[in-house]
Amino acid sequence: MTKRKIVALPGDGIGGIVLEQAIRVLTAAGFDAEYVYGDIGWEFWRTEGNPLPDRTIDLIEKHKIALFGAITSKPKDEAAAELHPSLQNKGLVYSSPIVGLRQHFNLDICLRPCRTYKGNPLNFIRRNTEGSFDEPYVDVAIFRQNTEGLYGGVEWSNPPSLVYKALMTHPKFIKNFGSVPVEEISVSTRIFSKKATERIVRAAFEHTSKYGYKSVTVCEKPNVIRETSGMMLKLAKDIQKNEYPDIQLWNTNIDAQMMWLTKNPEDYGVIVAGNMFGDIVSDAFAGLIGGLGFACSAQFSADGVGVFEPTHGSAPKYAEYDPPIVNPIAMIESACMMLDYIDDKDKASRIRKAVSRVIEEGKIRTYDMMKMKGSPDVIEKGAASTIEMTDEIISNL
Ligand code: NAI
Ligand code: MG
Repeated sequence: MTKRKIVALPGDGIGGIVLEQAIRVLTAAGFDAEYVYGDIGWEFWRTEGNPLPDRTIDLIEKHKIALFGAITSKPKDEAAAELHPSLQNKGLVYSSPIVGLRQHFNLDICLRPCRTYKGNPLNFIRRNTEGSFDEPYVDVAIFRQNTEGLYGGVEWSNPPSLVYKALMTHPKFIKNFGSVPVEEISVSTRIFSKKATERIVRAAFEHTSKYGYKSVTVCEKPNVIRETSGMMLKLAKDIQKNEYPDIQLWNTNIDAQMMWLTKNPEDYGVIVAGNMFGDIVSDAFAGLIGGLGFACSAQFSADGVGVFEPTHGSAPKYAEYDPPIVNPIAMIESACMMLDYIDDKDKASRIRKAVSRVIEEGKIRTYDMMKMKGSPDVIEKGAASTIEMTDEIISNL
């Protein structure tokens, strides 16, 4: 039998470091795959004017499943200034390759689970009425619509006249912005399509049912953002009524959810939101379970392309540390989500158990788990390196 091929996309900064650790763990767990490396990130922007070369798209097209580290993004003007001299002044405009991947492959479903690890010193604790503390057990799965809404890229500064004319047909635009000179107006649209909204909501319900959660919470703002948030809530009500009558449907506003987050995080199960609010609510929950060193994610399309990545970025300031100090767990957990996706659940479960055991034992901890500020001397101060953390996980498999 030919080996399964996985596209490995290291990207920038610490992306390659954590990806390598995840591959070590997968191999140690007996996952027998061939990793095909793909180019993505800053180097390819600078030297080719494209951070997501077509050859990388082709690789993912072919093999469907990718593990992705992280990339570095910079604002447009800064990005243009770093282009190789031969590419300058050619009208090349930088855009994030990860957003590009999401859009190219229509990776419209993003799943970000946040589950408390027993014994993690970074766990959120709450003071209760008697002055003692409790440590709520968080187990939420956030479904973020990944391609539309405020990240859809439909935006203008000084909008062209057709767009301006269309806006001027809206009474509220006329009232609030009608006297503002057009060149002083910037517009970022929030467009939801019924099809994609239905898909993310249905995915949330399916997950709830499959993994035995008791509720789905739509976390939007339908009282103010009536059209888009309103559409998601309405679709959720229909799906709940017609397909999942046994699952409770809750509805929270994003702002209130942020406030309740620390009050009763253990009450939530599956949360579904649009692109921006999903990004916010998933980072917020990740903060309760240890932060970026632990936050993993999966993104998938309707036709079977899956990209698995930690939520964190390329943390460029740590990229050159030798030994590396960053926590590999977010990437390793993302690899477990890949195993779930391709239905290799036993290996995923073994790896997760090993990670949990290492965290609970507490002998080996990366700097973030020791609440240190990241610097080269954290190792001398007792923090484990990225490699030592991975070694410990492997020895617990
Ligand atoms: P970041 O996530 O790279 O780092 C923020 C801070 O979080 C770091 O300074 C570090 O203290 C901590 N951190 C991140 N990963 C960690 C890990 N594995 N273990 C321990 N601590 C960790 O975000 P930042 O600094 O805002 O962005 C750096 C670059 O990454 C930017 O160019 C940004 O555009 C890009 N980025 C890329 C993402 C992606 O590839 N999906 C996501 C977020 C940011
Ligand atoms: Mg984010």
